[in-house]
Amino acid sequence: MCGIIGILGRGPVAEQLVDSLKRLEYRGYDSAGVATLEGTRLDRRRAEGKLRNLEACLKKDPLSGHSGIGHTRWATHGKPTVANAHPHVADGVAVVHNGIIENFRELRTELEAGGAKFTSETDTEVVAHLVNSYMRKGASPVDAVKAALPRLRGAFALAFLFEGHDDLMIGARKGSPLAIGYGDGEMYLGSDAIALAPLTDDISYLDDDDWVVLTRKGAEVHDAKGDIVQRGVMKSGASSFVVDKANYRHFMAKEIHEQPEVVGHTLAHYLDMSTERVALPTQLPFDFKDIQRISITACGTANYAGYIGKYWFERFARLPVEIDIASEFRYREAPLRKGDLAIFISQSGETADTLAALRYAKEQGLHTLSVVNVPTSTIARDSETVMPTLAGPEIGVASTKAFTCQLTVLAALAVAAGRARGELSEQDETKLVHGLIELPRLMAAALATEHQVERLARDIAKSQDVLYLGRGTSYPLALEGALKLKEISYIHAEGYAAGELKHGPIALIDEKMPVVVIAPYDRVFEKTVSNMQEVAARGGRIILLTDAKGAEEATVESLVTIVLPDMAAAFTPLVYAIPVQLLAYHTAVVMGTDVDQPRNLAKSVTVE
Ligand code: F6R
Repeated sequence: MCGIIGILGRGPVAEQLVDSLKRLEYRGYDSAGVATLEGTRLDRRRAEGKLRNLEACLKKDPLSGHSGIGHTRWATHGKPTVANAHPHVADGVAVVHNGIIENFRELRTELEAGGAKFTSETDTEVVAHLVNSYMRKGASPVDAVKAALPRLRGAFALAFLFEGHDDLMIGARKGSPLAIGYGDGEMYLGSDAIALAPLTDDISYLDDDDWVVLTRKGAEVHDAKGDIVQRGVMKSGASSFVVDKANYRHFMAKEIHEQPEVVGHTLAHYLDMSTERVALPTQLPFDFKDIQRISITACGTANYAGYIGKYWFERFARLPVEIDIASEFRYREAPLRKGDLAIFISQSGETADTLAALRYAKEQGLHTLSVVNVPTSTIARDSETVMPTLAGPEIGVASTKAFTCQLTVLAALAVAAGRARGELSEQDETKLVHGLIELPRLMAAALATEHQVERLARDIAKSQDVLYLGRGTSYPLALEGALKLKEISYIHAEGYAAGELKHGPIALIDEKMPVVVIAPYDRVFEKTVSNMQEVAARGGRIILLTDAKGAEEATVESLVTIVLPDMAAAFTPLVYAIPVQLLAYHTAVVMGTDVDQPRNLAKSVTVE
């Protein structure tokens, strides 16, 4: 969740540290800090809130050291204050940390008994004191870190800097990702390739339990036993990612608008456009015919993508699918059949619960397939098969284009499964693939509803609660609509299966409650109209997302209709996602919230 950067440079590094932190701000943004070696002495600047506060602080009081570490924080232990901001320092040891040190209380008690003076409420500070305690007994920085690491429980990535050691930085990884960057007479550490992109394209990732000693000449990686190991250097390609807002006011707006294009890229990766057939980029290490059940596991928006995928696998391939929230899956001891398939969906590829669920499924002997947006991520590297989404970096904390790209991959996979199992004929496949190929055009057309959605958002912004309803694949999209609205506008919202309305939530309906109904004209449309009648009869205000035929047939009072293009019923969630996302976006803009970095959230959730 937090972002880490470290530079052993040839000139002053403070500015580069802050530049890299800007690229990591999506991981956390409640405070930030940098520490550098000013001559032999460690010095640091820290600030509460966004990075601009740290920048202002550095402008007033610059640092000129050539070695430094930086951090942007998403608070776990201790409030987002300056005192709790990283780097944390104990005498001559400075550390930045992403993750959680689970046994920090017992370590703190032990270290305090030995005379250590703590200045923050964080779990991180124990790491600096622990390493320092070994150094006070005469250990070198490398030996001190080596001795300290086995005593830390939890998931973490760490970067250390040591007073008096200008050509030394140590990194360690357990659970949370950490990458090494190789420069020309310079070396770097970073939470991900995007952070390192302005500095270098040559990176390698530490494996779990690895630790690394950096000097300006290179990196020496050790495994948990302390043996020197080689970790392959790869080209990250991240430097070509343009991380800017173009002409948009927010990354989220840019990312919503990019969807026709990135879904197009993803389709091109999974389909043969000329023959209108599915052409998976990777040979599957299993046959869908042998799979009896699929388990799909993910968190948040990725979970809702999986939920829509469930409908597709069950319909196209007649394959039963269980969908799980990752934090539940890993502890509920679900009976799993060896040889079945477990799919994990994650934009970041680093979500702690999803990763743990993946490892659990592997232990149970399942085939593991991940749908990820970051191909170098831990989930990608730990999976048997990786199906990348080609959404490009998603910077807005609220997921938009990653969601529709996840849907694209799941749709292609479900069609492939249907074919492999003989449930779809070649003609069926062509028809479905044709429907997929149409999507970028239809999504572009859906973007044309933006002005109307923007006007509706002014009304939604006055509401305290909003209900989203849908049936079939529109039901998980209703859940996603409610999540999107609450996370960026802070308006309470609930998603429900439309048929479930009368089993409880109907009690909430009154004239103040907007109800967003997602209902393309499909085989359950009539039933959803009945549910809308129930809402209208109780004075509820309805916003109906439908197509031309649906708009004609839905004769319900107090109705505002957003008309979307006519399309094949199977893949409507990809197109209907657009007004759903736009509604949340424009409501948040009206509310004046921080759209790209909503309060309390972080883009990459690497803690449980
Ligand atoms: C919501 C959102 C989150 C993520 C969730 C999983 O807009 O972005 O709900 O979908 O935290 O993250 P990933 O996909 O990185 O595993």
